[in-house]
Amino acid sequence: MRKPFVAGNWKMNTDSHTSISLAESIVSGSLETAGQSVSVAVCPPFVYLQAVAKALSASSIAVGAQDIYIESQGAFTGEISASMLKDIGCTYALCGHSERRHVLGETDELINKKVTAAIGGGLLPILCVGELLAEREASRTNEVVTRQIKNCLAGLSIEKVSAVTIAYEPVWAIGTGLTATPQQAQEAHDFVRKLLLQMYDAQLAEEIRILYGGSVKPGNAGDLMAEQDIDGLLVGGASLSADDFIAIIQAAA
Ligand code: 13P
Repeated sequence: MRKPFVAGNWKMNTDSHTSISLAESIVSGSLETAGQSVSVAVCPPFVYLQAVAKALSASSIAVGAQDIYIESQGAFTGEISASMLKDIGCTYALCGHSERRHVLGETDELINKKVTAAIGGGLLPILCVGELLAEREASRTNEVVTRQIKNCLAGLSIEKVSAVTIAYEPVWAIGTGLTATPQQAQEAHDFVRKLLLQMYDAQLAEEIRILYGGSVKPGNAGDLMAEQDIDGLLVGGASLSADDFIAIIQAAA
């Protein structure tokens, strides 16, 4: 039985004041009921991570990083390692988010190193995959997702892969208001689970959580979560409103 998981990706939003007030509102508005039955995490910008982790420390809400670097320390100006993130109370790290792939030019090979570094540093990676609109229109969704998952998990043992959460985020649905229909998302999630069954074993495929992301709102969260292979939601814009994020958590409960 997979416990639902809702994560908020704040992207490059909030400031030193609003990051804390958002975290506090999420705690006070929720979650002692839904929090028991749903895993919840928020991923603030790096500079506010420590303060948000502190604000959430008495709650069951976890903190995740939006990215990590592949090395653990050294002369890598501007980068942040898994061990630093672990040190300040992070549990999760997004790896290969669509904006990092398509705006910052990250490759599957780099993302594979990030997933490996996250696990090595004691973090739980959330590996993001998803196709572009042109790829969906050319019926290449399964091919693209297969390539991303195989490349980004290359070289990891089954024990290590069991630390991973997959997030299916079709690029055309991110920040566009165009959500995948529950059926489209379910089809992709079912495909991913069967791929993982082929790559690993039945237990891993059954237990791994696959989140959907892309214009998730309170109004569509329930229908998405009703699908058999949608185990949770990775929420961008709507996670910046405590009321919307709490409503989404409740829909997932
Ligand atoms: P939106 O919910 O704003 O579409 O963003 C989705 C996303 O990229 C979460 O990581």
